[in-house]
Amino acid sequence: MQTLGVGLVGVGWVATQHLSAFAKNPRCRVVALCGRDETRARARLADAGLTFPDARFTTRFRDLLTAPDVDIISIATPNHLHVGQAVAAAQAGKHILLEKPTGLDEAELRRIRDAVRAAGVRTIVSFELHYNPYLRFARWLREEGWLGRLVFARFQYLSRVTDWYSGWSWVRTKKSGRSHLLAAGCHAVDALRWCTGLEVTEVSAFQSTITAGYQWPTSVIANLTMTPSGARRGQPVLAQLVSSTDLQLPYTFGVEMMGDRATLRDDLILWQDTPVDPDALRRACPFLDVTFHEVVTSTGARAIRVETIMPGSADVAHHPFQGEIDELVACVLEKRETHLNVFDADVTMRVCMAVDRSAANGGRVVKVAGRKS
Ligand SMILES: NC(=O)c1ccc[n+]([C@@H]2O[C@H](COP(=O)([O-])OP(=O)(O)OC[C@H]3O[C@@H](n4cnc5c(N)ncnc54)[C@H](OP(=O)(O)O)[C@@H]3O)[C@@H](O)[C@H]2O)c1
Repeated sequence: MQTLGVGLVGVGWVATQHLSAFAKNPRCRVVALCGRDETRARARLADAGLTFPDARFTTRFRDLLTAPDVDIISIATPNHLHVGQAVAAAQAGKHILLEKPTGLDEAELRRIRDAVRAAGVRTIVSFELHYNPYLRFARWLREEGWLGRLVFARFQYLSRVTDWYSGWSWVRTKKSGRSHLLAAGCHAVDALRWCTGLEVTEVSAFQSTITAGYQWPTSVIANLTMTPSGARRGQPVLAQLVSSTDLQLPYTFGVEMMGDRATLRDDLILWQDTPVDPDALRRACPFLDVTFHEVVTSTGARAIRVETIMPGSADVAHHPFQGEIDELVACVLEKRETHLNVFDADVTMRVCMAVDRSAANGGRVVKVAGRKS
């Protein structure tokens, strides 16, 4: 049985979850770790209950590039290091797990696209919420027509990131964190695209700075128009994105998709004219980890409550990296593309950049160009 060698750079918070998921995949083996200090890196792994005694340690990234037993490089470093490491990994013929954000500006995105396309390596980008049971269900519900024709969508990333975060020293800077959406809220942009199946065409956004210590605005709200991929004309779907690291509430990932038949609002399926039949939904739903309960809301409306694992925690230990890593490993072995590659992530990144540009210009409308692959 062919197995793949994994090298990881940036042994920090999220790396522990990459490594834990790679260790659970029988088709790969962690062979090399790269960081600035071995003792610190090994201590971090021990804190997370992980040991990789057989994995060699290096302080030089190029050792991962030249190692014949490294097939996949997992890039889990601060944001400003992603582009250089991703381009070098692709040029060395290594497959890549790249943390978000992929690039921090248009030029960085182009460099990553060009290098990956030229090398023909497989990539996956950590928008791991695609493997969260609730978001996977939400996408299915919309795709299978239970909501009817989508009319409006609102996705929200509401978090509170301060100096509790291991990456606080770099994330709060313009050089590395760069912006709220690039550093954090891009998960909501990605989920908005993925769940609705639509692409953003225009944005108008406003921002504010509330939490002290950041070099960039910490809350942003954007109005968006969306259309099916490739269709730049026709009636747009209106959408809204609310993203903040300022709010005094537990981490909240809000999902609202309103169709002309029914609405999904977080864990509730709601309707006005034509009830959704819970038994028909139970029969049709292909996910064993999603269950439905008929409920009456506080305003007396009948509704269906969806019960499953929600995207309700900022802690990376609760994030479904296993699905992401299993997909990358399978795609490398089977020589096929992942569904979450740098070309797809590129679109999410460019929406984030358009929102940032609009917000920096007092809400001026910014158009978003289509996919560049
Ligand atoms: N997909 C997700 O859900 C998710 C969640 C969290 C983070 N992330 C992303 O993952 C990446 C890493 O984030 P993290 O939370 O793991 O951060 P972190 O805890 O700070 O880990 C980053 C590691 O990179 C290493 N590093 C190398 N060069 C560095 C430099 N110049 N400055 C600081 N550290 C440097 C550090 O290890 P050494 O000191 O040993 O070199 C550090 O431990 C970021 O891009 C972040 O956006 C994604």
